Amino acid sequence: MRSFFDPTLIEHGGAAFIREDKVNDALARLIPKVHITKGHFSCPTRAELRDLTWNHMDQNHRPLIHRTYGDTVRVHISQQSAFTLTKFGNWPAIIPMFDGYHKENGFYQVTCLFGLIVIITVIECNSTEQGTRMDVDWAIASHRLLRFLHGPLDRRLKRLNEAQNREDEVIRDQRVALRAVGYRFLTDTPDFMNSNVLAHNVVFPPVGRLHSIPLAELAEGQTQRIEICDRAYVVRRTGETVEVWPGICPHEGAPLQAEHVRSGTVKCPWHGLEFGVRKLSPDAPAITVCGARLQVTDASLTIRPVQAGVINA
Ligand code: FES
Ligand SMILES: [Fe+2]
Repeated sequence: MRSFFDPTLIEHGGAAFIREDKVNDALARLIPKVHITKGHFSCPTRAELRDLTWNHMDQNHRPLIHRTYGDTVRVHISQQSAFTLTKFGNWPAIIPMFDGYHKENGFYQVTCLFGLIVIITVIECNSTEQGTRMDVDWAIASHRLLRFLHGPLDRRLKRLNEAQNREDEVIRDQRVALRAVGYRFLTDTPDFMNSNVLAHNVVFPPVGRLHSIPLAELAEGQTQRIEICDRAYVVRRTGETVEVWPGICPHEGAPLQAEHVRSGTVKCPWHGLEFGVRKLSPDAPAITVCGARLQVTDASLTIRPVQAGVINA
């Protein structure tokens, strides 16, 4: 273990962070006549620890899923930390936000409002007998003259955490459901880098054997979602031509629905990736979508295993 000039720092996996028990002392040193208000939010979850961790590290879902986030500028990302400038709704107010993975399944989130109020949040994810739990503890610190702002801010942070957890639960539950039928994710060991790159991180379960759907079962001209072989497709049949989009987003597994198709492109609601249409007809070759080979033959849409080596197309 290295010693730092600042003895309050402690090393964790190639980075150093301030020790949790030293945060208040540091704030008191920094802010004369400091007033500190502590708040707490806790919730049980059905997700695995790795899903909770990934969900926190995945910064790109925030403006799309949480209404409380406006636009963002990402200044820095490393495996263990990220620094972002976030717009507060539509207000011309910019909030700097530091996220750091400071211990196993634990995060710091640090922000400063108008240079006057510091909020340091510690997020911890733990296993319980029923599943997992997320504990969020924050310290609001400012000069004591501003302590009248602490109460409203504290209540706002509680409401924010409740709302965000409700919204995030949908994402995490989808991940759990997919894993239960054999999916894996390249972000199963998440860090800030792999959770924020543009990549197809879903590893689809293998298709065991050939399946086929008679084309007559697909309503003519109607965009619809079909579920088959533990995966889903959004399709539209016109005569013997079938337009195909993924029904499970290959990025991180969001369910894509017929209503997400606009002008020939399906747009994912989680991070906004768009996927163009692929077309199948009796003369067209097979295509790989959602880790399976699709082809139109003998008036049927067939779904078969991919060749070895193609896992997450
Ligand atoms: S899950 Fe990320 S863009 Fe679809
Ligand atoms: Fe979130």
